[in-house]
Amino acid sequence: MATVTTPSFKGAETASKAPRGRQPQSTALVIFGAGGDLTKRLVVPALYHLVQADKLPNRLAIIGIDHRQQTSEQWRQDVTNMMQTLTPAGTLDAPAWSWLIDRMHYMPADFSQSETFRNLRELLVHQKERNGAANLLFYLAVGERSFGPIVEQLGHAGLTEQSEGAWRRVIIEKPFGHDLSSAMALNAQILRVLSEDQIYRIDHFLGKETVQNILVLRFANGIFEPLWNRDHIDHVQITAAETIGVEGRGRFYEQIGALRDMVPNHLFQLLAMIGMEPPISFDADAVRAKKSELLQAIHPISSENAIRGQYGAGVMLERKVPGYRHEPNVAPDSATETFVALKLGVDNWRWAGVPFYLRTGKRLSARTTEIAIQFRQAPYALFRDTPVERLPANILMLRIQPDEGLSVSFSAKRPGTEIEIDGVAMDFAYRDYFEPVATVGYETLIYDCLIGDATLFQRADTVEAAWRAVQGLIDVWARDATAEFHNYAAGSAGPTAADRLLARDGRAWLPISTDHSHTVIRPDIAAPVRLR
Ligand code: BG6
Repeated sequence: MATVTTPSFKGAETASKAPRGRQPQSTALVIFGAGGDLTKRLVVPALYHLVQADKLPNRLAIIGIDHRQQTSEQWRQDVTNMMQTLTPAGTLDAPAWSWLIDRMHYMPADFSQSETFRNLRELLVHQKERNGAANLLFYLAVGERSFGPIVEQLGHAGLTEQSEGAWRRVIIEKPFGHDLSSAMALNAQILRVLSEDQIYRIDHFLGKETVQNILVLRFANGIFEPLWNRDHIDHVQITAAETIGVEGRGRFYEQIGALRDMVPNHLFQLLAMIGMEPPISFDADAVRAKKSELLQAIHPISSENAIRGQYGAGVMLERKVPGYRHEPNVAPDSATETFVALKLGVDNWRWAGVPFYLRTGKRLSARTTEIAIQFRQAPYALFRDTPVERLPANILMLRIQPDEGLSVSFSAKRPGTEIEIDGVAMDFAYRDYFEPVATVGYETLIYDCLIGDATLFQRADTVEAAWRAVQGLIDVWARDATAEFHNYAAGSAGPTAADRLLARDGRAWLPISTDHSHTVIRPDIAAPVRLR
């Protein structure tokens, strides 16, 4: 069994929620799935960045558990090799890295066996005697089917009971269930062992700076909120376009598809941030209650308001790529969707009648995640022969990634003797104002969990509300896997049927592009509007 060699611990600490900005309390972090990609690519690099930012407790032990037989030394070497591939040559901060790996220990074990948890308890007791790290954080970086059993085993082994000065928390990765009933069953199973405030359900989109910035934008500025409603907003478009295919994840993706993979989690988090009512405080429960309310207000999605498609062969960055059905571990007649577009309605006073159009897909023409809030046209165009709808639209574009920032587009008079109106934009780019911060997107999430701030994690009711909103559509699509299935070429903007979803409402998607000038051009206008 591995031994833990962290320094001894001095003061007693409480299990209460700590304010941000505070150093987390001494902790033993146990990672289930220590040999997996998630741990190597995201969790360990995030911990390294937290060391650099001095955001980890001095008294920290990291215990990695996985099936593979290897020593602590081999595990450390393995993560070091990975870290070296993730950082430009020669830039690894050696003191920070050795601070981290000195605290990393590996325990080869089968986490389906109760013996593993007895051994783990002994290890943790032993380690607490040596260095006093009383708090325990369990990180479940494992497949969905292991979440419930691991939590149960932790409970049986007495590893989840909190006491004054000793908290117990569990981070659960995505996917949290694969439909409403599995999510409810998983919630019920883990809530028999843990209380809600011990559970940290991750949605890594909430770790993105620009996603967190949505609440600041809305609630720390006086100018947006008065316009943030059906009186002023025409519609909202949320796009998460990826250029990658399913990579090596064919087996997983075949069971999941784009709808379950991206919509009830990532896209709905964006939707909730945009649509929620102001919370009474930034306390975790106040924020999460408002998000849940928003998700509960989504109309059932009918199949007429949903488009699915699958990528065929195409060209990406001048390179030919195969269609989805030719990816490894994908059935040659697969009916799994790799693209989905939805029109959603939100049944509440603020949003009644304002459509939210969502789309996401793999192998699209550009990698971009953005939210476009399109405001209503001016009521009157000054000159009779210039229809209002030909004026450039006012769009507030939130660029989540890449090139994080936002822009506001509006009309301006072109210089000259004629009155000609053209679309222009004001742009804010993060990189122009702030030093870039090294991040893999998990730093804030891990730090928040260590200080007991659950604002950026999903509560049981939020997860269930999200699944409930898409469950009807999942059922309809499952009943007829091939009806209304629209293909698209890799490298394109998705199926043309997705364009019709908006065209029938007299609207159009903004182009999928990393060129931001598209926010100032209405799709149907090529030339400036002449008013006189
Ligand atoms: C994951 C999905 O949750 O999110 C992937 O399973 C997807 O299919 C990924 O590629 C997108 O996240 P990001 O941060 O790369 O936009």
